[in-house]
Amino acid sequence: MATLLYVAHVLCVVVWVGGMVFAMAVLRPAAHAALEGPQRLALMEGVFRRFFRLLWHVVPLVLLSGWGMLFGWYWGFGASIWHVHLMHTTGLVMAGIFVFVALVPWRRMRAALAAGNGPAAAAALDTIRKGVLVNMVIGLATVAVATWGRFGG
Ligand code: HEM
Repeated sequence: MATLLYVAHVLCVVVWVGGMVFAMAVLRPAAHAALEGPQRLALMEGVFRRFFRLLWHVVPLVLLSGWGMLFGWYWGFGASIWHVHLMHTTGLVMAGIFVFVALVPWRRMRAALAAGNGPAAAAALDTIRKGVLVNMVIGLATVAVATWGRFGG
């Protein structure tokens, strides 16, 4: 059971962090180079609609599998180790940022697009970009710390 939780945890982390790297480092610059404002907004609306729908499933799984391992395997906070404490903290921060981005600027962007207000949609998209960028950096650092903590001592 612990192994299953571990595999699920790492798979969900791969989808979350890898998805953010793809969106920020690959898709966004390519969209900027190839598309004008309105088409770019339409593309990014479709991208984040699908990505956030996926993340509403993946993010809870990261937290639940992490807690499952922490409390079922390491028997709670007392017996666990520094990299797990750090991962737990950054995981909660990342989940908070995701929930904020998916509830506030994302809803604002969709409402602005529905109202035909391009500048307001672009402003909301920029807030989404900043939130995803911050989460990507924290996520990559968390993966580095988690793997270092487990195998690097
Ligand atoms: C509530 C939040 C989280 C908790 C309680 C948690 C807990 C855990 C635990 C207990 C392990 C096994 C550790 C070991 O045996 O060494 C683990 C592994 C791992 N976690 Fe998390 N985690 C959380 C969030 C995250 C997040 C947000 C990421 C990445 C963005 C992440 C990345 C990893 C990775 C890469 C591993 C495999 C390396 C390792 O075992 O340390 N975790 N997690």
